[in-house]
Amino acid sequence: MGTGSSKDRSRQSTSPEDTSRVNPPPSSSDSHSYSSQLVGGANPETGEPCRSRQVHSLTAQTGHGNNTMSNYNVQTNAVSSVQKTKDQLLKGVSILKETLDSQDDVPHVFVVFGASGDLAKKKIYPTLWWLFKDGLLPRQTYFVGYARSDLTVQAVRDKSTQYMKLQDDEKDKFEEFWKMNSYVKGSYTERTDFEHLNQEINTLPKGDLAHRLFYLALPPTVFKDVSSNVRLCCMGHDGLEESTVSTGSGGWSRIIVEKPFGRDSESSADLSQHLSKLFREDQIYRIDHYLGKEMVQNLMVLRFGNKMFSPLWHRDHVQCVVITFKEPFGTMGRGGYFDESGIIRDVMQNHLMQILSLVAMEKPASTSAEDIRDEKVKVLKCMPPLELENVVVGQYTGDPQGEGDAKNGYLDDKTVPKGSVTPTFASAVVFVKTERWDGVPFIMKCGKALNERKAEVRIQFKDVPGDIFGGQCKRNELVIRVQPQEAVYCKMMVKAPGMNINPEESELDLSYGARYKGVKMPDAYERLILDVFCGAQLHFVRSDELREAWRIFTPLLHKLENEKIKPAPYKYGSRGPQEADDLARKFGFIFSGTYKWTKPQL
Ligand code: NDP
Ligand code: BG6
Repeated sequence: MGTGSSKDRSRQSTSPEDTSRVNPPPSSSDSHSYSSQLVGGANPETGEPCRSRQVHSLTAQTGHGNNTMSNYNVQTNAVSSVQKTKDQLLKGVSILKETLDSQDDVPHVFVVFGASGDLAKKKIYPTLWWLFKDGLLPRQTYFVGYARSDLTVQAVRDKSTQYMKLQDDEKDKFEEFWKMNSYVKGSYTERTDFEHLNQEINTLPKGDLAHRLFYLALPPTVFKDVSSNVRLCCMGHDGLEESTVSTGSGGWSRIIVEKPFGRDSESSADLSQHLSKLFREDQIYRIDHYLGKEMVQNLMVLRFGNKMFSPLWHRDHVQCVVITFKEPFGTMGRGGYFDESGIIRDVMQNHLMQILSLVAMEKPASTSAEDIRDEKVKVLKCMPPLELENVVVGQYTGDPQGEGDAKNGYLDDKTVPKGSVTPTFASAVVFVKTERWDGVPFIMKCGKALNERKAEVRIQFKDVPGDIFGGQCKRNELVIRVQPQEAVYCKMMVKAPGMNINPEESELDLSYGARYKGVKMPDAYERLILDVFCGAQLHFVRSDELREAWRIFTPLLHKLENEKIKPAPYKYGSRGPQEADDLARKFGFIFSGTYKWTKPQL
């Protein structure tokens, strides 16, 4: 094993296979400074919620001093102006900075395992940079990359810079950031390599006392080895029994695990058991980055901060709920990794189920992480396992008329095994057997190589009973668009302007881009990584949520795999297989095809 600091370090090569978790390179036009708009805060020394009077005043509108960054985020209401929002954000940032600066004597060390990989270069290093440049990290935060590859800090920098949206006036800060970086080369299996990593951490200023964050940006095959070795060799001293702590004194330790958390109930339970022997639940942060998205976090406020929604959010009024994830690109030559999982494990079992449980849960007792996660788990517990008859799976084929990658079908990807039946599209109908939702179909749809990029929740309401408009009224829909261009809109009927009383489709439209002009939404990873610094568990997956989600999906996944069920073909760039629309129709979703949206010109 070799090591590297801002000097250089060395050796072998590996690259985590799972890079489909990250997106194509971000557009360079998307400026990434939100320091004047972002607020966050917790006591970085203890990781406990920041309970200062000032921070409470920021959260006063929610009435809770919960310690997630989002809790310190803009507390909006209908009357606040955008300027007021920005002023409040500025105030919040200065409070956060004061809090972090007061912790100067306790360093933090953020270790990126898999520093040579795709996720690290595209997401983790860029996120650390954005948090650093916005002054949202404790001032003495050191970053240590770790991987088997023969790399240097300069090499990590070269790989990740293109994803960092660096602005011309940020160059000095950028140098400062990289000075806080080091790189350690080592295996994922050998204890001595981790002992060496620990020595490296200890050589950082007050490194032996530092709080330690370990990010596993790694393929699941090495999760167990790495977590065991971290526990054995690299922990800070944070309340674990003296006899089992080999090193460190003073700081806390937190471990951040990327999905996939297992392949099915059995393997997930195995991993959970393994981790629970090594770490307390409050030290484990299972990332589902959809929980870091603005509109996913918004679901709580929309639902429980608006009286008008509470009676409507019910089987008496809702016909069906459609939760959709669409991507306009295929596996782009990286199908080998994707083929191990398929779209159900990649997106549906985690991202869509997390959204579903936030849509369907009852009001929690408070906004504390445990109260909210308790309610989410209850939803999952009320869901029977998925039935094959309520599922459509698809696989994309090339479009001969398409351009570039669109010409290639999934099976044309050379890294995909010949004749693979792995789904790249899935639509599934599930039920939540609670008093509120019994009988309401929740239709989840996700796929790659489709006609657009979109993630949304669509609540379709029932027809108006006792129609007096001769069948002209279309169903109301409430749409929460997670991406792109965050929006909440409600499709509704209004009188067409003029002399007659003719109903016409229109909308109540809250487009975030217009309402919060100039307010930068933080990236999901920024919120979540900052949450880990703050010790905030709300937007992370608890082990019982995971267990329940796998219980719902495992029988279906086994059936699909054991019986090698052939997915329905759909053309690259289409909306997916026709069978998926048939399934949605069968469960009561109506697409009228008559709605036309005109973007408002203000
Ligand atoms: P549409 O009525 O066009 O679509 C409604 C739903 O029907 C979508 O979920 C879509 O699913 C589905 N659908 C589309 N075609 C078919 C089909 N042939 N058979 C069955 N189902 C189908 O309304 P939208 O709410 O999608 O609005 C139309 C456009 O206006 C969208 O692009 C929307 O983003 C935009 N808009 C934007 C607003 C804003 O930015 N604030 C406000 C209002 C609208 P699928 O996803 O599977 O294709
Ligand atoms: C990841 C999946 O979890 O989410 C990828 O593994 C997918 O396949 C990605 O592309 C989508 O994330 P986002 O944030 O772009 O919607």
